[in-house]
Amino acid sequence: MSQYKELIDKKRLPKHIAIIMDGNGRWAKKMGNLRIFGHENGVTSVRETTEAAAELGINYLTLYAFSTENWNRPKEEVDALMNLLVKTIEAETHTLAKNNVKLLTIGDTSRMPKETASRLQQCIEQTANNTGLHLVLALSYSSRWEITEAIRNMVNDGQTGKLTAANIDENTINSYLATANIPDPELLIRTSGEYRISNFLLWQIAYTELYFTEVLWPDFRKDDLYQAIVNYQSRERRFGKTSEQVTQ
Ligand code: IPE
Ligand code: IPE
Ligand code: MG
Repeated sequence: MSQYKELIDKKRLPKHIAIIMDGNGRWAKKMGNLRIFGHENGVTSVRETTEAAAELGINYLTLYAFSTENWNRPKEEVDALMNLLVKTIEAETHTLAKNNVKLLTIGDTSRMPKETASRLQQCIEQTANNTGLHLVLALSYSSRWEITEAIRNMVNDGQTGKLTAANIDENTINSYLATANIPDPELLIRTSGEYRISNFLLWQIAYTELYFTEVLWPDFRKDDLYQAIVNYQSRERRFGKTSEQVTQ
């Protein structure tokens, strides 16, 4: 029985939850196993979290699965992660389709092995018409990559006259990011007791509530998500205003 689920106010759910899934390697080490064993077990946490988010009626769940910087890990780990990614997504596509989950990715997929990218693309197409939870996988993603790309594209559009400096506002910048059309997350969770952002959604989390937990990602379960949401709902989001202004 869930300790936290019943404490959630269904009327004040975050529309978008983002998660930095961290601690797979340490979890495996604790068990005396190879790092990849941690990644494999992290898949269960992805499945549970996705299911919990869909059941609650969350609109967007963004999972940081592989960062630009993660390309610098040992080749065996990178290869194993790419294989695990495709294997998992292909095995889960049927369930995602059944549960009306729409799969999206953000990130520089051009850096991924061709085979991995094309199989991933197939799964995205298979869920493209779904209208429930948007499951956004951040793959080969980093915020500085995303912002650099956005600026490059804006300058290009400036040169062809599609964009003028005077017309640039925050919405324009949003529309050039990989997350165009995705609302900013209200809640960002990081597991494994690390207190940093690691190049994730820097622009988008300007006013996001941050939640850190010691739980290692392979141990993260539905109740951990519920607990994070209950904690989020206990906070007063003031957006620069006074407490009196927002409680009136
Ligand atoms: C997170 O777990 C998964 C990825 C970054 C792919 P880690 O692999 O970073 O695990 P730790 O931080 O070394 O424990
Ligand atoms: C961040 O985790 C990236 C992902 C969760 C995919 P890392 O474990 O790579 O982050 P750092 O290097 O410890 O900051
Ligand atoms: Mg880590």
